[in-house]
Amino acid sequence: MIRIGSLALVVGAVLTSPASAQSDLVERGDYLVNGILACGNCHTPKGPSGDIPDKAFSGGASWDEPPFKVTAPNVTQDKETGIGNYTDAELKQLLRKGVKRNGERVAMVMPSGFYEIMTDRDIDAVIAYLRTLKPIKNAVPEPIYRMAQGHPVPPGGESPYTEAMLSGKVQQGFYLATIAHCMACHTPMGPQGLEFATKLGAGGRDFPGAWGLSVSRNITSSKTKGIGGWTDDAIKRAITQGVSNDGGKLNPPMGFHYYATLAAADLDAIVAYLRTVPAKE
Ligand code: HEC
Ligand code: HEC
Repeated sequence: MIRIGSLALVVGAVLTSPASAQSDLVERGDYLVNGILACGNCHTPKGPSGDIPDKAFSGGASWDEPPFKVTAPNVTQDKETGIGNYTDAELKQLLRKGVKRNGERVAMVMPSGFYEIMTDRDIDAVIAYLRTLKPIKNAVPEPIYRMAQGHPVPPGGESPYTEAMLSGKVQQGFYLATIAHCMACHTPMGPQGLEFATKLGAGGRDFPGAWGLSVSRNITSSKTKGIGGWTDDAIKRAITQGVSNDGGKLNPPMGFHYYATLAAADLDAIVAYLRTVPAKE
C-alpha cells in the first residue's frame, strides 16, 4: 500500500511540470482579478454598456476628493504608461503595502490594505495574470496628493493568510470578502476613516457616477435593516446578478458583473461569512 501511494506521488510530481504550474497560476489570477477582486471596476475605462473590453486595464475611474485627485492608472504591461517596468517584488509591495516603485504611497482609494491578507499563492497568481495583459499605451494624469495617504487595513486582515487558515467555510468567506474589499464600500466613513470597529457593514456611503447616485446598503445580519432575513439564494442573487431582495435592480459600483463568475463554493463561503457579521441597525 505504502509503495503504491508513493508511486502515485512520483507520477503526480512528473505531471505537474513548471509550465503547467505557471498556467495554473495564471488561471487562478484570471479568476481572481476578473472576479472577486474586480480590479477592472476601477482600472478599466467604462462606456455606456460598462467595461470597454479592448481597453481593459488601461486606466479608468477618477476621484477628486479632499485627500487626493487621482485616476486609477494603466496596469497593462506597457513599459512607458503601464506597469511593464515593475518587478514582481515591486508589484507585491504595491499590492500588499500600497507603496509605488518610486517610494510614494498610493492614494488610499487603491484598496491595498485589503490585500495584506492575500495568501502568497494568490498574490503570485495576480501578478502572473497581470504579466499576460497586452501592453496598451495610455497615460493617465499624474496623481495629486493633498495630504499623507493612509493605508486602512480591515480588522483580521493584518497579515497574509496561509492555506491552512482557509480550511473553514466562514474563514474562507471572510478571506474572500476581505480581498473583495466589500466592507470598504459597505462601511460608513467617519472623520477618522472607515468605521470598522463600530459600523462594519452598515452601509450608507455615497457613490456618484454615470449611473446617478448609488448608496451602499446595510449587509450586516440585521433582520430589519440588513440581509439577516434574506434566504441564501436571495443574497447570492444580489451579489452575482445585482437584484435586491425586493426584485429591485442594483447599480454600480456594486461589482455583480465581476462576481457573476464566482465558483459555487466561494459564493457559499461568502454567504456563510456575511451571516456572522454582527447586526447594525
Ligand atoms: C477602488 C478602486 C481600485 C481598485 C478596486 C483597484 N485599484 Fe489599483 N489603483 C487605484 C488607484 C486610484 C490607483 C492610483 C493611486 C495613485 O496614483 O496614487 C491605483 C494604483 C495601482 C497600481 C500602481 C500603478 C502605478 O502606476 O504605480 C497598480 C499596479 C494597481 N493599482 C493594481 C491593481 C490591481 C491588480 C487591483 C486588483 C487586485 C487593483 N489595483 C484594484 C484604484 C483601484
Ligand atoms: C465599489 C463598492 C462596492 C463593493 C466593492 C461591493 N459593494 Fe455591495 N453594494 C455597493 C453599492 C453602492 C450597493 C447599492 C447599489 C444600489 O443601490 O443600486 C451595493 C449593494 C449590495 C447588496 C444588496 C443589498 C440590498 O439591500 O439590496 C449586497 C448583498 C452587497 N452589495 C454585497 C456585497 C458583497 C458581499 C461584496 C463583496 C463581495 C460587495 N457588496 C462589494 C457597493 C459595493
